[in-house]
Amino acid sequence: MKRSILGAAAVLLRGALAANVTCSGTFSPISAASFIAKLNPGWNLGNTLDATETEGSWNNPPVVGSTFDDIKAAGYKSVRLPVTYAYHFTSSSPDWTVNATWLQRVSDVVDMITARGFYTVVNVHHDSWVWADITAAGANITQIEERFYKLWYQIGTKLACKGSMVAFEPINEPPGTTAAHGEEQNKLNNIFLQAINDAGGFNSERVVTLVGLGEDGAKTNLYFKKPDTKFKNPWAIQYHYYSPYDFIFGAWGKTTWGSDADKASLEADLAAVRGNFTDIPLVIGEWAASPVATETSARWRYFDFFLRTAAKYNTSTILWDNGADFLNRATHTWRDTVALSILKHAAKGTVNSLPDSTTDGSATSQFSSAYIYHQLNSTVSDASLPFLFNGNTLRSAKLAGKTLKSGTDYKVSGSNITFTSAFLTPILGTVTKPGSIANVTLSFSAGADLLVNVLAYQLPTSSTLGATSSKLPATSADLAIPVTWPSQNRPAAIKATESNGAYLEDDWTQYLGPLQQGRLTYNNHWDWDADHVILKSAVLDAVRSAGRSTTFGIEFYPRSLGNVVNYTVTV
Ligand SMILES: *[C@@H]1O[C@H](CO)[C@@H](O)[C@H](O)[C@H]1NC(C)=O
Ligand SMILES: *[C@@H]1O[C@H](CO)[C@@H](O)[C@H](O)[C@H]1NC(C)=O
Ligand SMILES: *[C@@H]1O[C@H](CO)[C@@H](O)[C@H](O)[C@H]1NC(C)=O
Ligand SMILES: *[C@@H]1O[C@H](CO)[C@@H](O)[C@H](O)[C@H]1NC(C)=O
Ligand SMILES: *[C@@H]1O[C@H](CO)[C@@H](O)[C@H](O)[C@H]1NC(C)=O
Ligand SMILES: *[C@@H]1O[C@H](CO)[C@@H](O)[C@H](O)[C@H]1NC(C)=O
Ligand SMILES: *[C@@H]1O[C@H](CO)[C@@H](O)[C@H](O)[C@H]1NC(C)=O
Ligand SMILES: *[C@@H]1O[C@H](CO)[C@@H](O)[C@H](O)[C@H]1NC(C)=O
Ligand SMILES: *[C@@H]1O[C@H](CO)[C@@H](O)[C@H](O)[C@H]1NC(C)=O
Repeated sequence: MKRSILGAAAVLLRGALAANVTCSGTFSPISAASFIAKLNPGWNLGNTLDATETEGSWNNPPVVGSTFDDIKAAGYKSVRLPVTYAYHFTSSSPDWTVNATWLQRVSDVVDMITARGFYTVVNVHHDSWVWADITAAGANITQIEERFYKLWYQIGTKLACKGSMVAFEPINEPPGTTAAHGEEQNKLNNIFLQAINDAGGFNSERVVTLVGLGEDGAKTNLYFKKPDTKFKNPWAIQYHYYSPYDFIFGAWGKTTWGSDADKASLEADLAAVRGNFTDIPLVIGEWAASPVATETSARWRYFDFFLRTAAKYNTSTILWDNGADFLNRATHTWRDTVALSILKHAAKGTVNSLPDSTTDGSATSQFSSAYIYHQLNSTVSDASLPFLFNGNTLRSAKLAGKTLKSGTDYKVSGSNITFTSAFLTPILGTVTKPGSIANVTLSFSAGADLLVNVLAYQLPTSSTLGATSSKLPATSADLAIPVTWPSQNRPAAIKATESNGAYLEDDWTQYLGPLQQGRLTYNNHWDWDADHVILKSAVLDAVRSAGRSTTFGIEFYPRSLGNVVNYTVTV
């Protein structure tokens, strides 16, 4: 029998505490549409208060105010604050008391954010998989609802008097796949609203961003229901977008992005959410294309297209930054200044020019106009790079602050910018080691400045790696292979072939293009550090279960079938 959402909530909340907090300050009500429009573009304080078990447990130290100064200076208008409470409860059922020190820390960080004029969206984060997973085997749904109510009552109490620039989001990416899961998530949205309204203060007028299953657009389209009309909170829908998976997460050698099909697919996804929720403010509360996982030109093109498409469908965006992606919090510098600038210009609606790059998945090599790749010891010749001017004209090209001479140092012909051998020879002629030699800054009549990274490389040889083979370790562990980088200081892709010719992982990749067949997935299967290529234990476990020696073809940029060195793990 189908229980009504309200009936169930009423049962749950029998004996619930009456609206409690009374605030002394004032609250300037804001509509959800206005809140969502004004928070654009936003930035996520990722892997920080959401880390398990606590702030500082992952790759970032506890946040300091200057990080928000950096975000302000970069032009962001909002900060989403993910918070995990799972390891901060000091009692269990029925009270689920949250450690007062932790609630105070959350409140203090909210103040650090709003003191700088940011809008903020505060959520409950990895609790979604630690205890609030309604899909877990044996999940006690009654208890999840009880705990969820009590948690939000306490957060709602603690943050009750925060101003109208503070919004709440009930739960991050709640697991679920079925209509029944979807119905339960709609109920949890109502329980959340009940809890914050019961807590009192300004919460009844506070903006909330409600969520569907997984904060996935398609599942939100299918199952999301409007909250009960008894709640007067202005509300928006928040969803997340990390698509296509293979490009965003560096899977299966997918280092290109930007074909007509790639663009159509992205646009269809965003259009569908807008199409289902024509009159509801929408925010993509997480998205990213990180420099650690994506090719530079493809990433810049993705940033530009994603942001313009979101704007086309009247959807605000909040970039995910786990601390290793974009802002280097320790040095206060941005790892990809061009992406940041593309974002700022796209948010304003200014047209950006972009480097062209391979988009054809069946190609056997990949070019990228974000680079002049110079093979060491080869003759320096003109380098002709195609660009997508998008109606702009090139204003200047500069190297270390010095303006290059049009006609002698470079020429523009059609959509190509050609850097002459006369210009490149003094830069490259004396280079003996691989690596980035210089960056040329291109400025256009409008939009972001671009960088062209002049990068020397050599084809790898057996001496690129500290060894070319090893015996499969007896126990499950990562394998760090010493490397002298022959190009960029990271692999482009890794292909794993068993001694019988079979692909070690994801056999279906045989149907992909030659630069993707048999390729592994970044981070799950391989990684790198300053001077190692790392094969992860999961992939060595796969070798163990296959029982066959396996050759890992470690590929570098620029991508072509020959830019590879083999490493064999023998069984
Ligand atoms: C009411 O709110 C105050 C904080 O404003 C809190 O200390 C108190 O515990 C709350 N009362 C109940 C019954 O939750
Ligand atoms: C609350 O958290 C603080 C800081 O982590 C800790 O020192 C304290 O012991 C915790 N209190 C309880 C009751 O667990
Ligand atoms: C489920 O949770 C409720 C609320 O905490 C509790 O009363 C009940 O005993 C739990 N059921 C089981 C089977 O653990
Ligand atoms: C609503 O969402 C579904 C599922 O994502 C999609 O197929 C459909 O086209 C969307 N409707 C509109 C009007 O965009
Ligand atoms: C954007 O959407 C909001 C509703 O969320 C609406 O109020 C506003 O008029 C829309 N703006 C444009 C430019 O379509
Ligand atoms: C480049 O040439 C120099 C001198 O001829 C030689 O020592 C060096 O090994 C060569 N480097 C590469 C990568 O071929
Ligand atoms: C543009 O550059 C590409 C790649 O270097 C080259 O193949 C093409 O011929 C160039 N076109 C012009 C008009 O220079
Ligand atoms: C060129 O810029 C990239 C970042 O876009 C940086 O990693 C590289 O070190 C720079 N090269 C030089 C020579 O400064
Ligand atoms: C690298 O290994 C692959 C797969 O085993 C093989 O096809 C290729 O010939 C090897 N390349 C070299 C240079 O040994």
